[in-house]
Amino acid sequence: MTSSASEADGQLLPADVPLDEVSDEQIVAAVGEHREASVATGESLLVLDAVTLRFGGLTALDDVSFDVRRGEILGLIGPNGAGKTTCFNVMTGVYRPTSGKVVFDGRVIKRQAKHTITRMGIARTFQNIRLFGEMTALENVVVGTDARHHTSVPGALGRTRRHFHEERSAVDRAMALLRFVGIADRSAEKARNLPYGYQRRLEIARALATEPKLLCLDEPAAGFNPAEKDELVELIKQIRGEGYTVLLIEHDMRLVMGVCDRIVVLEFGHKIAEGSPEEIRNDKAVVAAYLGGEEDDDGAA
Ligand SMILES: Nc1ncnc2c1ncn2[C@@H]1O[C@H](COP(=O)(O)OP(=O)(O)OP(=O)(O)O)[C@@H](O)[C@H]1O
Ligand SMILES: [Mg+2]
Repeated sequence: MTSSASEADGQLLPADVPLDEVSDEQIVAAVGEHREASVATGESLLVLDAVTLRFGGLTALDDVSFDVRRGEILGLIGPNGAGKTTCFNVMTGVYRPTSGKVVFDGRVIKRQAKHTITRMGIARTFQNIRLFGEMTALENVVVGTDARHHTSVPGALGRTRRHFHEERSAVDRAMALLRFVGIADRSAEKARNLPYGYQRRLEIARALATEPKLLCLDEPAAGFNPAEKDELVELIKQIRGEGYTVLLIEHDMRLVMGVCDRIVVLEFGHKIAEGSPEEIRNDKAVVAAYLGGEEDDDGAA
């Protein structure tokens, strides 16, 4: 909307200054360039409205409704096979609900191409890491920023000024994101050679590169030791602090309780509870689900 002013308003990192001398404010400005920083928090960003999804005879999601509110960290938990990843898949257009609907930012999500979902503002990471193994860490993130590039193909072929600007901007932003997630020291290494924890963080950087309104993390702490989990909690809090909305699938209860504002619990495709960490911790159905249904009646002994 404001056209050429954007080149001069200081959102790019200075090219001639080493990155470790760039201030945090500049990094934040570069990382958050296109983000809506001033949206009202608390209102619904994504709504699952009575979503049912069947795979043949198996009902993976059964009449599931909940919303993700702007600015919150929402935890999505439940035993294995509960339907958590399937929720991500209907939110990101991989599957179309058998009935019910998903509404994101006022628009109904159907079965949609990945780039359409990205443009709408949803980004995700995967339970099993998906990176371009032969590309460097930096390249993996630049690919994410590409999803938001504005130059047309003819423009790119003609190497217009705008295209050069975007290219440099993409690399700057990608480096800033690697720093933000704490892995800039190995930006030039092939993704497949990075330590596991770095790969998980790289996936988050790549997702953030698409400038999402909603960041969906599918078990980002899987395989982490307690110290790595604590660091991840800090990172997720920082991400939310930057104004992103976060939906987090995670099995580790301590992590979930420590970072989430609200929690939704699924079991066998049903939503069995929703509430604050405190409410979820004391919820009988949740306790029963996690103890394998050992306690049916309270006080009966
Ligand atoms: N494409 C598919 N075809 C058939 N069944 C599927 C498909 N995707 C998921 N399911 C089934 O749907 C149910 C929910 O799976 P989902 O992967 O969503 O569980 P989850 O809560 O993410 O579990 P986990 O904690 O193990 O990752 C499971 O019974 C699973 O086998
Ligand atoms: Mg899963």
